Amino acid sequence: MGIAKKRPELKIIHSTQDESKRREDDSSNINNETTSTFALYELGKSLSDQMQETLKVFEMAAKCILKALDCKDKYTYGHSIRVAHYCLVLSGHLGLSEDEAYELELSALFHDVGKIGISDNILCKPGKLTPEEMEVMKSHPVLSYEILKEFSYFENVAKNALHHHERFDGLGYPHRLKGVEIPLFSRIILISDTYDAITSSRTYREGRNHSVAFDELRLFAGKQFDPKLTEEFIAAMDNYYKEKDKKNRLKLIGPNKRAA
Ligand SMILES: [Fe+2]
Repeated sequence: MGIAKKRPELKIIHSTQDESKRREDDSSNINNETTSTFALYELGKSLSDQMQETLKVFEMAAKCILKALDCKDKYTYGHSIRVAHYCLVLSGHLGLSEDEAYELELSALFHDVGKIGISDNILCKPGKLTPEEMEVMKSHPVLSYEILKEFSYFENVAKNALHHHERFDGLGYPHRLKGVEIPLFSRIILISDTYDAITSSRTYREGRNHSVAFDELRLFAGKQFDPKLTEEFIAAMDNYYKEKDKKNRLKLIGPNKRAA
């Protein structure tokens, strides 16, 4: 009885000791888990801070290169910004991810950066280029690639820039790639690039209307341009202008009434 009585007591004591030890272990585990979760959080935060810092430095460097292009040739700088803008309109229409859209934006902004290496008398010549001058001008995608390739963040951007004058029928340059051999973003940039070349004004001619540009793109779809992407680009831009028109519609005059 005494033993029997003692046993439960002992059991209780034992059990209390067990419980106490278990709680101690649990508490220590919780403390360890809390410590490691906190350490992971801190590590993650510090990595995220470092990445943010690296991204900031990268974006500053990228802006410096663009500034150099602006100093070299204001038209090419403005053209690159417009091309990037049109590419983003298409990227929204195609539902590209945020990362893909950013790569496309950078590729478009830097596609012509190699023009920094083309002499002014060729780059800014108002008239038609001679065949020799044209050959020099045609070296700019390779120069863009050479400028960008050393920058590890720009590995894909460099490749997209290298191929932005390849044609869908394989008659482009510099590598005469054909169809889907040409990187997707290079095919998009060529369409956007041509659209801007037609619609923007130069010192020697006025920019033409969107519908003229759409007709021109359709005319060369399947030859110069990826035909499916051409239709998507036209649909995206058409929709973009319609939405813009809606926002800026004159209340008094109503829709579809524009000055000639
Ligand atoms: Fe170009």
